[in-house]
Amino acid sequence: MNVLGISGSPRPNGNTAQAVQHALEIVRAYDIETTYISLAGKEITACDGCLSCHLGKCRWTDDMNEIYEAMLRCDGMILGSPVYMGQVSGALKMMMDRTVMFRTASKFELSGKVGAGIACGDFRNGGQELTLQGMHTFFLQHDMQVISDGPGYSHSGAAVVGLFAPDQIGKRMVENLARRMAKALQG
Ligand SMILES: Cc1cc2nc3c(=O)[nH]c(=O)nc-3n(C[C@H](O)[C@H](O)[C@H](O)COP(=O)(O)O)c2cc1C
Repeated sequence: MNVLGISGSPRPNGNTAQAVQHALEIVRAYDIETTYISLAGKEITACDGCLSCHLGKCRWTDDMNEIYEAMLRCDGMILGSPVYMGQVSGALKMMMDRTVMFRTASKFELSGKVGAGIACGDFRNGGQELTLQGMHTFFLQHDMQVISDGPGYSHSGAAVVGLFAPDQIGKRMVENLARRMAKALQG
């Protein structure tokens, strides 16, 4: 079993990175292997819709190769994004778009994997829910199973407000989300 955590922030040690890595720590306590990838500094070319992936291969060679491999290898995926203008970060969206090659020509290579989202914004109602929905839609388009943070709060996934470290509610949501991920994988 492997859970892949991806931080979609351009800041390598920011709130999203901390939240995703905290989730992975919890997952590891269930004896599940984890892989962490930060998009900070990654070279990811924007999908230009050439559809060469329909012929079997994306034509760009860049840092997506490592991410493709990690996505295929994982059983569960935790995506984290800072809220940018009320939605997912550009870095995460570029990455999500480039995965269209996993769902072409009737093959859904990520089908059945479990997905969960973490959104970090500065403000209450800053767009965390829409950001989470953006990630959930990505999972659904890959025919993945989506989980939220579950009880005690059980809303739309883990929403962090302000700095991650002092946000006790956000931290509990991240922990609940990670526990649910582990339990979903272990049955
Ligand atoms: C370009 C930009 C847009 C932002 N837009 C929002 C926003 O719409 N709502 C919000 O709550 N915070 C917004 N923020 C603040 C970040 O979401 C917040 O600081 C977050 O914790 C940053 O995560 P990071 O430390 O992982 O980069 C924005 C920040 C940037 C740089």
